[in-house]
Amino acid sequence: MLPKLIKHILKESPISQEIEISGWVRTKRDMKNLVFVEVNDGSCFASIQCTFDRGAGLDAQVEEAIASLSTGASVKIKGALVPSPASGQAVEVAAVSLAILGSAPAENTDNIQAYPLQKKRHSMEFLREIAHLRARTNTFGAVARLRSRMAFAIHRYFQERDFHYLHTPIITAGDCEGAGAMFQVTTLDPKIIAKDAAAGGVDYTKDFFGKQTFLTVSGQLEAETYATALSRVYTFGPTFRAENSNTVRHLAEFWMVEPEVAFAQLEDDMALAEDFIKYILNCALEECADELAFFDAHVEKGIIENLKQVVNAKFAHITYTEAVKELEKAVSAKKGLFEFEPKWGSDLQSEHEKYLTEKVAGGPVIVTDYPKEIKAFYMKLNDDNKTVRAMDVLVPRLGEIIGGSQREDDFNKLCKRIKEMGMKTEDYSWYLDLRRYGSVPHAGFGLGFERLIQYVSGMANIRDVIPFPRAVGQAEF
Ligand code: 4AD
Ligand code: MG
Repeated sequence: MLPKLIKHILKESPISQEIEISGWVRTKRDMKNLVFVEVNDGSCFASIQCTFDRGAGLDAQVEEAIASLSTGASVKIKGALVPSPASGQAVEVAAVSLAILGSAPAENTDNIQAYPLQKKRHSMEFLREIAHLRARTNTFGAVARLRSRMAFAIHRYFQERDFHYLHTPIITAGDCEGAGAMFQVTTLDPKIIAKDAAAGGVDYTKDFFGKQTFLTVSGQLEAETYATALSRVYTFGPTFRAENSNTVRHLAEFWMVEPEVAFAQLEDDMALAEDFIKYILNCALEECADELAFFDAHVEKGIIENLKQVVNAKFAHITYTEAVKELEKAVSAKKGLFEFEPKWGSDLQSEHEKYLTEKVAGGPVIVTDYPKEIKAFYMKLNDDNKTVRAMDVLVPRLGEIIGGSQREDDFNKLCKRIKEMGMKTEDYSWYLDLRRYGSVPHAGFGLGFERLIQYVSGMANIRDVIPFPRAVGQAEF
């Protein structure tokens, strides 16, 4: 039998019953006759207070254990659950036995350094350096529980709507986004690569896969193959970008959710994205109420109210062209408003995205019909020949959370676009087959899972919503 979790003990409150709890010590207060030990097992926010009463007589072994007990130690404590006389908790353990499973020294000794998580506020930067221990703090425990429940809610959303969960490859030969920001996967000797490259070209037929390969930037192209067979699919897996973006919203390794739907157009895709986000936010509000209350109190004031508003709001729609006009208007009213001048044809910067969602829309906004030059090759061309059926969902505080599009389903137009972008149609021959045989209008999007967790928790830096962040210059653990 697994030991009972503190979460269940607190909820069930089996008053007067003998219980055993296991966890890590948050604090110990030794007050002459009474010793209070707060124990947390990460199953919920609350720690359980264990009170040792010297007046009632304690075993010598227990006294000895209490003396050596410090923050961070792992313990097993037995006693009866009783109503707590103190405010702040309804129940506590009238503890009679204490076993220290693993100590955690409070001070440096010869061969072990003091436990780094003493009871005080630690900076996020410091905690990032000890990412293997930070899950034992309130903040990272909350983020971990939120992440886990949100992942499950995402599966539930799609499973309940007849989407099939598809596993797309991590190692791939193609560049889905055409952005060139890929990590190469090779077993060739770097010295040989360098020599061959200097001599005019590397012979990748000698590489492990017989061709040049990379870590995937998106599972979309493979997802399209199954969407045009099973009608509705989604992927949910790690993706990799070697972009040199040292920002609070970029990771080199992040998780992406990518639904892909056959017989769907951009409008259907937008409606799906809106419904999906609202469902997930609602799950967070209902299923992670304690975690959100914590984030609201300690991380981002008012976040619960803010998420509730989004759940009840209608997402605004604006075309890229209209968006640029709004930004230009803003600049003409206030010179120097943006670091980057908004200009039709340039990608929206994160400051522009924030302005659009916070100032123009006053809530989430879906921007559509971007210039084809700044979007990937697979997006469906509009009749104007200049813009594509793309959509980005922007949210306040964060900017882009979702990127998606209707896909080009016309064989000739897709070939033309691939060539225009300097890519080779031979490299996309299997992808083009989807347009050669039984082509259908189809659409999908990608949600950055860490951006979602950032949005829901209010955590400022994306590196703090994934257990072990990989970013420029950062791959510890
Ligand atoms: O806009 P992106 O690049 O779109 C795609 O990859 C498409 N293939 C998706 C599709 O249509 N199936 O990325 C999608 C989302 C972004 O909106 C953002 O939330 C997130 O992935 N994202 C990142 N998150 C963290 N770090 C990065 N470097 C990210 N790049 C994109
Ligand atoms: Mg994007």
